[in-house]
Amino acid sequence: MQVFNSVATYRAWRNSLPPHSTVGVVPTMGALHAGHLSLACAAAAANTHVVVTIFLNPAQFSPTEDLEAYPKTMNEDLASLEALNVLFPSTVTGHIAAVFAPTVSEMYPAGIPLVRDEQVGTFVEVVPLSAKLEGGTRPHFFRGVATVCTKLFNITQPHRVYFGQKDIQQTVILRRLLRDLHLDITLTVVPTERESDGLAMSSRNVYLSGKRRDIATVLYRGLKWAEEVYDGGEKKADAILQAARELIEREGEGMVKLDYVSLNEPELLNEMETVEKGRSVILSGAMWVLPAVEGEQTVRLIDNLILQ
Ligand code: PAJ
Repeated sequence: MQVFNSVATYRAWRNSLPPHSTVGVVPTMGALHAGHLSLACAAAAANTHVVVTIFLNPAQFSPTEDLEAYPKTMNEDLASLEALNVLFPSTVTGHIAAVFAPTVSEMYPAGIPLVRDEQVGTFVEVVPLSAKLEGGTRPHFFRGVATVCTKLFNITQPHRVYFGQKDIQQTVILRRLLRDLHLDITLTVVPTERESDGLAMSSRNVYLSGKRRDIATVLYRGLKWAEEVYDGGEKKADAILQAARELIEREGEGMVKLDYVSLNEPELLNEMETVEKGRSVILSGAMWVLPAVEGEQTVRLIDNLILQ
């Protein structure tokens, strides 16, 4: 597994691959966990060469968000990717051939045209999808994501890219971006990896411990309960969402604040008023886990289920 920190060295390697190679790319911000590794496994099953990108993208954090505090574990990340390569059975097509881990100045040589600095330069925004759901609370977030992913795709030249269902709006937006910009890349969505109690794995879970870690499962439990209500025959979105809200309110014990729960169709993310069996609908939610003692930070968690 080779590690490249510059666009030029990565490109030289990419151009040297044998003809008929297929490249599967897994974009990440590092602090790798089993969710990230499952994307790499999916990529290895379908491509001769897997490239994992590790880049903590400042452009998708607002000035008040946790960029400085975001966990940075490059050595451990590289070790877990090496370890995964050893585990791949011979039936798997490919392996993790490269890690692309550029510096900020390598990715934004002329400055960041987005939130933090002056708005000069090029960015990509998928409207109005970027303003929905997560975009309500994080207005510049998906502009940062769409811009960095476009750059990463242009640099890494993938045949296929792999993204997690955990960040489902991100997958909807990037699918639309690929289509709108005629990028000849296939996007695969990989199911959410969860802890044994259902909490979706996330690099931000390290901020949670003790009672806050236990209570964090309430978002998933709320969504599961809403799914049960839907499976029981309820069609009205209001009633399904109310079930989730009530559970989160009750079992959150005052330690969490719900941002939203929502039912949206999977292409334009329009909100649904009624949901019918046989059509996939996204049931998603976001909440903050509040500080329990002074000095702890508020942690924002998201999760989703697909209702069928
Ligand atoms: P990051 O949060 O590091 O996530 C990288 C990829 O891992 C994303 O596709 C995300 O959906 C996936 N992922 C995270 N947790 C997961 C879980 N529990 N199960 C399955 N997949 C999971 O998402 C980003 O980084 C950034 O926005 C990025 C796309 C890299 C652009 O900067």
